[in-house]
Amino acid sequence: MSQKQLKTNLAEGILTITIDRADKMNALNIALIEELGQAIEEVYENDQIYGAIITGDGEKAFAAGADIAEFANFSPVEGRQMSEKGHAVFNRIEACPKPIVAAVNGFALGGGCELAMACHMRIASEQARFGQPEVNLGIIPGYGGTQRLPLLIGKGKAMELIMTADMVKADEALRLGLVNHVVESGELMAKCEEILQKIFSKGPAAIAGVIRCVNAFQKADGYPLEIEGFAGCFGTDEFKEGTTAFVEKRKASFR
Ligand code: COA
Repeated sequence: MSQKQLKTNLAEGILTITIDRADKMNALNIALIEELGQAIEEVYENDQIYGAIITGDGEKAFAAGADIAEFANFSPVEGRQMSEKGHAVFNRIEACPKPIVAAVNGFALGGGCELAMACHMRIASEQARFGQPEVNLGIIPGYGGTQRLPLLIGKGKAMELIMTADMVKADEALRLGLVNHVVESGELMAKCEEILQKIFSKGPAAIAGVIRCVNAFQKADGYPLEIEGFAGCFGTDEFKEGTTAFVEKRKASFR
């Protein structure tokens, strides 16, 4: 798929990256992940860009996860490649020396929640909903969620959210520490811009150092294990039932 699925806009040092697939709840297909990777490289390289905001088009979704219709027939090898690609791009977001903020305007589920968590901060609108619903599909989170969710909200609550696939509303996400601020939807972008402009007034090398060192705090490295576990789910009966049920718009029956 070569059509562009991201919109970008550069103003006042901020590159706003908007996932532009509102008709599919901004679900992240492989081509979109690649495009996102290119946009992030632009943030690294372009001296006119001091920081970035990642958001989703439309009223409903930030990103409702990886594209289930696309990966439903993936083999374990393809599942591994998919997970490795997502990890590579999300790690570049996390390691970016310039601040990157997620403006979560709606559903942030699965890969969408993982994308938001890879950003340095998350600002949510009151409509935002967060969750890791992968087990509904017979898989585990594959874009860093098993590692970043416990880091942000603690192991016990992360275990609960990932194993139950429960969604949390914006106010609960704030209470858990999953998001930094919750604002009315009309104020979402302005709040992100305000925080970024404040950061831009500081020394850029110091900010890059903060990002590098705070990231170093977290390095118990379960990420390769997650890629292994994610790939291992593909092709199983659970995976077939979970993804087929989503595509057929019915509830999965695992036993
Ligand atoms: N992958 C592929 N397509 C998706 C998708 C995803 N992750 N999430 C939503 N879509 C598509 C739907 O299939 C639908 O397409 P259609 O109009 O061609 O039928 C469209 O986006 C609108 O979604 P719909 O489910 O009709 O909207 P809703 O308001 O009833 O429900 C959600 C919204 C987000 C609760 C629901 O779409 C959902 O549960 N999505 C999957 C979330 C998920 O499991 N993510 C983890 C993936 S690993």
